[in-house]
Amino acid sequence: MPITVSPDLAFHLRTRSTSYVLKVFPSGLVAHVYWGTRLDDPDLTPLVRLVQRDRPTWEGGGLADDFVGALDAMPQEYPTRGTGDFRPPAIEVTWADGSSVCDLRYSSQRIVSGTVPLPGLPGVSSEERDGTETLELTLADPQGLEVVVRYGVHPDHDALTRSVTVVNRSGQPVGLDRVLSVSVDLYGGDFDELHLSGSWGRERHPVRTPLRMGGHTVESTRGLSSHQHNPFVALLRPGTSEDQGDVFGFNLVYSGNFLIQTEADQHGWTRACLGIHPTGFRWVLDSGQSFQAPQTVLVRSSQGLGGLSRTFHRLYRERLVRGPWKDRVRPILINNWEATYFDFDADRIEAIAQAAAPLGIELFVLDDGWFGRRDRDNSSLGDWVPDRRKLPGGLEDLVSRVNRTGLQFGLWFEPEMVSPDSDLYRAHPDWCLHVPGRHRTEIRNQLVLDLTRPEVRQAVVDQMCAVLDSAPIAYVKWDMNRPLTEVGSASLPPARQGEVSHRYVLGVYEMMETLTSRYPQVLFEGCSSGGARFDPGILHYMPQIWTSDDTDAVERLKIQWGTSLVYPPSTMGAHVAACPSHQTGRTTSLEFRGHVALAGAFGYELDATRFTEEERALVRAQVDLVKACRHLVLHGDFYRLQSPFEGNLVSWMIVAPDRSEALLTWIRVRAEANPGPYRARCAGLDLAAVYEVSGPGGTERICGEVLVHGGLRVPPLWGDFASVLWKLVRVRD
Ligand code: DGJ
Repeated sequence: MPITVSPDLAFHLRTRSTSYVLKVFPSGLVAHVYWGTRLDDPDLTPLVRLVQRDRPTWEGGGLADDFVGALDAMPQEYPTRGTGDFRPPAIEVTWADGSSVCDLRYSSQRIVSGTVPLPGLPGVSSEERDGTETLELTLADPQGLEVVVRYGVHPDHDALTRSVTVVNRSGQPVGLDRVLSVSVDLYGGDFDELHLSGSWGRERHPVRTPLRMGGHTVESTRGLSSHQHNPFVALLRPGTSEDQGDVFGFNLVYSGNFLIQTEADQHGWTRACLGIHPTGFRWVLDSGQSFQAPQTVLVRSSQGLGGLSRTFHRLYRERLVRGPWKDRVRPILINNWEATYFDFDADRIEAIAQAAAPLGIELFVLDDGWFGRRDRDNSSLGDWVPDRRKLPGGLEDLVSRVNRTGLQFGLWFEPEMVSPDSDLYRAHPDWCLHVPGRHRTEIRNQLVLDLTRPEVRQAVVDQMCAVLDSAPIAYVKWDMNRPLTEVGSASLPPARQGEVSHRYVLGVYEMMETLTSRYPQVLFEGCSSGGARFDPGILHYMPQIWTSDDTDAVERLKIQWGTSLVYPPSTMGAHVAACPSHQTGRTTSLEFRGHVALAGAFGYELDATRFTEEERALVRAQVDLVKACRHLVLHGDFYRLQSPFEGNLVSWMIVAPDRSEALLTWIRVRAEANPGPYRARCAGLDLAAVYEVSGPGGTERICGEVLVHGGLRVPPLWGDFASVLWKLVRVRD
């Protein structure tokens, strides 16, 4: 039983390796008691007493052991504002009388099998038969507000989820100013905090800092999860490394504005809370209505960051990503963006496809510029009609020409945007986000459609369906190239303008749900100026996301490394691009670029018509290698071995779940004179088994324990950006 409850209302949530305990005190306040190594003793009393005794003796009044009057010292499950907890609250409301005190006490509980779907929002879900259970704890404020705190317990996947539904039964509207999805008070005031930060072209670099009193914020107010910060945070106990130590990870399943606050408090507890960003947010909740906050995924590992990542990866591959592509190896694609930018026509596209097909590449993707009259980035978004100047026979003709080469066809869209120079904008100037009387800020010469409005969503979906029905299109790249400004909607009354950012995200999700369910066989790839919206919300609809516009293979080492902290390799679009790199001017070998891209959903981003004979042979061999290994990328366990953030040597390993085969990649970024012999360490293998190891030195048989504890000898290397790849296959147990 993953969830047990004692007669005095202590709840024990158990996954394979973890216990999470909360307790309803006699006052009705709900305390966080424990999150850590799985406990098997059914008696929770000593654990609860531990929390009660932690209360400093000098804290004022109230019931002994019950924290009333001393809330600031109490580890809480869903803290409010105005009754004595002065740390960041999970919820803030404004009542009809203007006051804002909120006091949530236990009202009821319910345990159900499986997961409870969140209306309109993405999330990790499970069927009843995998043992998942959900606890719904209803808390109530005497003025008539109910908060259902929901815990999904996924025993096999070793993960918890949390979310919150607010129900107004007060008889009057209530302003919701802050409704976070989760708040946890962890015992200990000396955690390190790790989050993923960056910018365009250098997304998701890990940043680790000691967390002390004073608090730390990771956030996006850009309307999307952003290049700058990812909705993820981990708290690491002192000494935690890649391979060992206790780490607690939180990932918000949401693609819009978010807030993560972490803070060590005065009594040695650390609060972590996550949810929709309160800045610019105010939801007017009418009486009788409910508000659903997004889901947060909580994973704890005692095996360091590596263990944390592998748990997130498996959960996301199996319980977040959906549809036929979830378990299907991804086609090797070639995208024309860096090959042609906007400068192409049907003949040029067909020529690229013709050159790519004999190399074994499987899918051609036509990027930006095929519609309206888009010769630059300054027009036509919103007019999803093929440009007959470039494609005289329309898409139907182009797709059949590409298909005749043997390649499938994919297409780029940017459905959420409108160019001021477009028929759509001329016909409906109020269909973009704007505030009457204010300037409409253009970024990349474009405005954001008001997707809070059903008629706007419908108009875009209809246009996309017309295109997707017009030809056999096997893949869609869904791009989103600017943040939100002047966040206002012409269709909402003044009091509801604070709802626009969240309603926008709900609108995006609804469109994604509609299109991905209508075209289940189409492979959708998310994108946002590279990786500005690489989050679990998007992964619920699309099994892969373009990781970054930076396709320089050396830069990608860091971007893919950071992204892998949470997201599985199979979800990361990774392409071999032209050299010198369009982002950095650096030149690396085709082989090196291939080895780096092999750790993701593999493709090419260059002009195949320009390959030399030698390059053609190399690409053909590379494609064969990808086809032989991509099942590992799809299902395998990922081991980070040597970090690009810590030195010149980088390595990682992908191991089949049954440990029968593996791929080891080892990289030396910069040449070194007279180095000692390098060794490549393995991980995750069956120690007792013998593996056939194929690599640069040929093939040999080596025992798993030697590979893990001794390693492989790296052959002599010459020059910058050197890489070596070994394939390991178990031959004997
Ligand atoms: C940004 C994407 O990240 C690129 O790959 C490309 O699709 C451009 N947009 C096209 O405008």
